[in-house]
Amino acid sequence: MIAPPLSLYIHIPWCVQKCPYCDFNSHGLKQDLPELEYVAHLLDDLSQDIKLVEDRKVNSIFIGGGTPSLFSVEAMGKLLKGVSDRVELSADAEVTLEANPGTLETNKFLGFRQAGINRISIGVQSFQQDKLKSLGRIHDDKQAQVAASYARDAGLNSFNLDLMHGLPQQSMEDALSDLSTAIQQKPPHLSWYQLTIEPNTQFHSKPPVLPDDEILWDIQTQGQKLLKESGYEQYEISGYSLPGQQCRHNLNYWRFGDYIGIGCGAHGKITQIGSDKPQILRTVKVKHPKGYMDLSRPYTDQQWFVEKDELPFEFFMNRLRLVEPCPKQDFEQYTGIDRESAQIQGIFATTIQKGLIQESATHWQVTDLGRRYLNSLLELFV
Ligand SMILES: C[S@@+](CC[C@H](N)C(=O)[O-])C[C@H]1O[C@@H](n2cnc3c(N)ncnc32)[C@H](O)[C@@H]1O
Ligand code: SF4
Repeated sequence: MIAPPLSLYIHIPWCVQKCPYCDFNSHGLKQDLPELEYVAHLLDDLSQDIKLVEDRKVNSIFIGGGTPSLFSVEAMGKLLKGVSDRVELSADAEVTLEANPGTLETNKFLGFRQAGINRISIGVQSFQQDKLKSLGRIHDDKQAQVAASYARDAGLNSFNLDLMHGLPQQSMEDALSDLSTAIQQKPPHLSWYQLTIEPNTQFHSKPPVLPDDEILWDIQTQGQKLLKESGYEQYEISGYSLPGQQCRHNLNYWRFGDYIGIGCGAHGKITQIGSDKPQILRTVKVKHPKGYMDLSRPYTDQQWFVEKDELPFEFFMNRLRLVEPCPKQDFEQYTGIDRESAQIQGIFATTIQKGLIQESATHWQVTDLGRRYLNSLLELFV
């Protein structure tokens, strides 16, 4: 077993207001943002977790939320300076910040860049005003355009636009128009998510009228065609990029890499190889901001070592999201399980026979059929 590449996830749990479809750990702001106090907690949290990774380098940082772009440039600068004082960042580390178009001005973009952010991910969702309204977004169609063009002109290494489809009352033409408008901004990366109705959201208790399955299918197939014709390669279920512009941070999750997770509710996965029995440690931080910032309790809410018999499912649940073939060697190195073991051989014999996976001497590759029935495919690994 070897330790895979290491990333750092930082969670900022506040938003201007909660969107009706969102089940992320985010809270509408009711008072002043306690940003400097929170940054101090994040850095303490990090100081504790780095003991788990010894002197391994961090290859990417993702500041997600919530709405991290609510933070001032000063707070973001303190956070990134504190991080680089504590961990060694690789020279070309990707440092992404999630931003909401309703919280951005040009000078903030420049300030974030100077603080060390080199990639921005903007939650555009749609460029159509009626759709933004039905999603309860705080920004309008003009702000969506402006934020995308700021990102393009800010001199960052890269930027991403988040779009959703399958929106209330959305036709195929509406969805394709959103994609075309996004493509005109030439984002190196596009995340194109189908709206899902999650439990514990306002949309769950009061469901909006969504497009029927036939329209959803047309949106999916025509949208993928448009993206492909425009030079965007699909590399993950919802991830599209120009060649070489995949999100390295997310790729690391899906390749079963390691990550430290700091901040409210953040998850971490850390391979510990120092002992004679290498194991994968999972960590979850206290979810609510009040509890997280309560000095009388630890930041970590739960931590456990993954049981060996759960590793194949955990590995493939991530790995099979990716379009690229999976090196068999990665499976052995990151899980410590022999690919020739009877369990793994048995599962692959079934998946190959059903046409869900193809294999060569060195790689496994999900087929189109396997991707369409990914959940059923993954059940075979349980
Ligand atoms: C944490 S949010 C991103 C940033 C920021 N908070 C914002 O919304 O602008 C990540 C992305 O997940 C997508 N998303 C959130 N909830 C979703 C849902 N229920 N179904 C599909 N996509 C969703 C949205 O595209 C969103 O931009
Ligand atoms: S702004 Fe983003 S994180 Fe916040 S509630 Fe809306 S979708 Fe969720």
